[in-house]
Amino acid sequence: MSTLLIYGSYGFVGGLIAEKAIDRGLDPILAGRDRERLREQVADLEQPGRRFSLEDPVTVATALEDVDCVLNCAGPFSNTAEPLVEGCLRSETDYVDITGEIPVIESIHDRDAAATEAGITLLPAAALSTIPMDCLAAHLADRLPEATHLSLGVDSFRVPSIGTLRTVIEGADTENAVRRDGDLESAPTGWKTREIDFGRGERPAVTMPMGDVSTAHYTTGIPNVEMYAVMPQPARTALRLHRYLSPVFESKPVRWTLKQLAGVREGPSERARDRGSAYVWGEARTEGEGGAEGERVVSRLVTPDPYVVTVDGAVTVAERVLAGDADAGFQTPAGAFGADFVFELEGVEGFFDEETPAETSPVNPLLQ
Ligand SMILES: NC(=O)c1ccc[n+]([C@@H]2O[C@H](COP(=O)([O-])OP(=O)(O)OC[C@H]3O[C@@H](n4cnc5c(N)ncnc54)[C@H](OP(=O)(O)O)[C@@H]3O)[C@@H](O)[C@H]2O)c1
Repeated sequence: MSTLLIYGSYGFVGGLIAEKAIDRGLDPILAGRDRERLREQVADLEQPGRRFSLEDPVTVATALEDVDCVLNCAGPFSNTAEPLVEGCLRSETDYVDITGEIPVIESIHDRDAAATEAGITLLPAAALSTIPMDCLAAHLADRLPEATHLSLGVDSFRVPSIGTLRTVIEGADTENAVRRDGDLESAPTGWKTREIDFGRGERPAVTMPMGDVSTAHYTTGIPNVEMYAVMPQPARTALRLHRYLSPVFESKPVRWTLKQLAGVREGPSERARDRGSAYVWGEARTEGEGGAEGERVVSRLVTPDPYVVTVDGAVTVAERVLAGDADAGFQTPAGAFGADFVFELEGVEGFFDEETPAETSPVNPLLQ
């Protein structure tokens, strides 16, 4: 049987992923750098454990020698993806993660040639961001192959885990928020707002530097990509103030308060996860002469709660990679498994295609 190692297995999402992987009979090795937390989880889940940190590439490669696929759940991934990818290249181990960080996805994309030569798959962002949006992007590109512009959006706002908050705040700088003519360009988070109908009436969404800006481009080849998310007004304000909030967030009292808000498991409760959902929207269009409006297609998708999709998606991707279904080199979820891959996830039914192209929704230049 192939061997799966889950790194960061005792974090909030890592723990849920470990339990799901065990339920599906994958018999994972649990791994991370904290001896105590790992020991506790190993005893609780009765699985083998492996403690190692990521400072030394030789240590990482040695720890992965007998492993067929690593599933990295240790975020922020700006600190963990590079050493694990490096270790995977040395030990010829496939790599999957749940990052949503654009610079991380881009740096993994940069290792495409090395991964192809080593015969391993590198598949980042096997999570809410980006599986549903990536599959929707592939579906839209199938509907309008000559599309030049792609806009994607997600309406799923909920209290996130502490780890997600930390990652969003650490990564919410002005880098790499939008793709124009094939290149990533800096733009502040929330630089543009747009009324989007996710299937239950129009809601204000703001541009977000989510990993889909990278993956959707690599999956479809569409040169212009923007990613929107619905945010309540307080969160939009917080995003605009994020530079001032970052140091505050790192303080112990604030982290403690956030933990109380998010719940004792450092993330949304099982009840909240069971009731949650995500509404995903996408628009592909062509540009006519002199920037005039060309053809436009819109499709939508409804999924279970973001954390349910992330857990199910990560484990399903790992299963497919272990089965040898993904090619060597850098891969995106839909690039590896096709637009319909999202329907392998529990509770995801089908694409809702808008048959009659509607007028383009008004785009407001800047958030006041
Ligand atoms: N793409 C998506 O849609 C999506 C969805 C959900 C979550 N996520 C991301 O998934 C990540 C995990 O979220 P979470 O809620 O599970 O966070 P969490 O509870 O804080 O867990 C993070 C885990 O990463 C480990 N870790 C962090 N930095 C490390 C380092 N430098 N070396 C080794 N281990 C390290 C931590 O171990 P220690 O205790 O040893 O530090 C812990 O096990 C976040 O980055 C979040 O943004 C993405």
